[in-house]
Amino acid sequence: MKLFVDSANLVEIEEALARGFVAGITTNPSILAKEERTDFTEHIHKIIALIRRYGREVPLSVEVFVADPAEMLDQALKFVSAFHYPGLSVKVPIGWGELKVIAELRKRDIAVNCTCCMSFNQAYMAALAGANYVSLFYGRIRDTGSDARSVVEQTARAFRAGGIRSEIIVGSIRHIYDVNEALAAGADIVTVPPKFFPQLTQHPKTTEAVNQFLADFRQWSQG
Ligand code: E4P
Repeated sequence: MKLFVDSANLVEIEEALARGFVAGITTNPSILAKEERTDFTEHIHKIIALIRRYGREVPLSVEVFVADPAEMLDQALKFVSAFHYPGLSVKVPIGWGELKVIAELRKRDIAVNCTCCMSFNQAYMAALAGANYVSLFYGRIRDTGSDARSVVEQTARAFRAGGIRSEIIVGSIRHIYDVNEALAAGADIVTVPPKFFPQLTQHPKTTEAVNQFLADFRQWSQG
């Protein structure tokens, strides 16, 4: 069970990396579009430099931003040569034409994160095509009225039963409780918007306990 950071913001990524819990980073075109407009390649290089500064070359997912499968393959190969990062996973959305892109990339030993999966079938097809990661979109699945938790459970069960080695990433997290639910449902990884990380460390009883310890000690030491 691992936590990834779902962000392209350099400050947020650094804040998380500095706390040691980060097992990977995911981006997508919309996440990148939240940053100040800049050169895409340069920005990814900055993320890679940050990762390296913290000593562990954790997986970094970068998504293609074209719609045509042939162009996706081309763009994915350009990412690989531009970034020279061993932890790079190219994010390719699920789709019929896109499966060919996934298969081609895997043939060349390029890691793939198959993204935008909203159903078990999509995740399963992506895994069979060789994707290293399949990304299920928790919040967006729920938006359709479907039970996101059972989609993750079914996928995790099928992967285990079939000896499938693709890791399940759950993204599209909207509440901290989604993180707990997704992990309990069998996700290998949850990719979390950074605003939720501080909340994951907080509990009112912790605050109460810490305050009590400090007050008791102060009273004792001051006589
Ligand atoms: C992560 O890999 C996804 O791209 C991301 O979590 C999608 O989240 P959203 O549904 O909030 O756009």
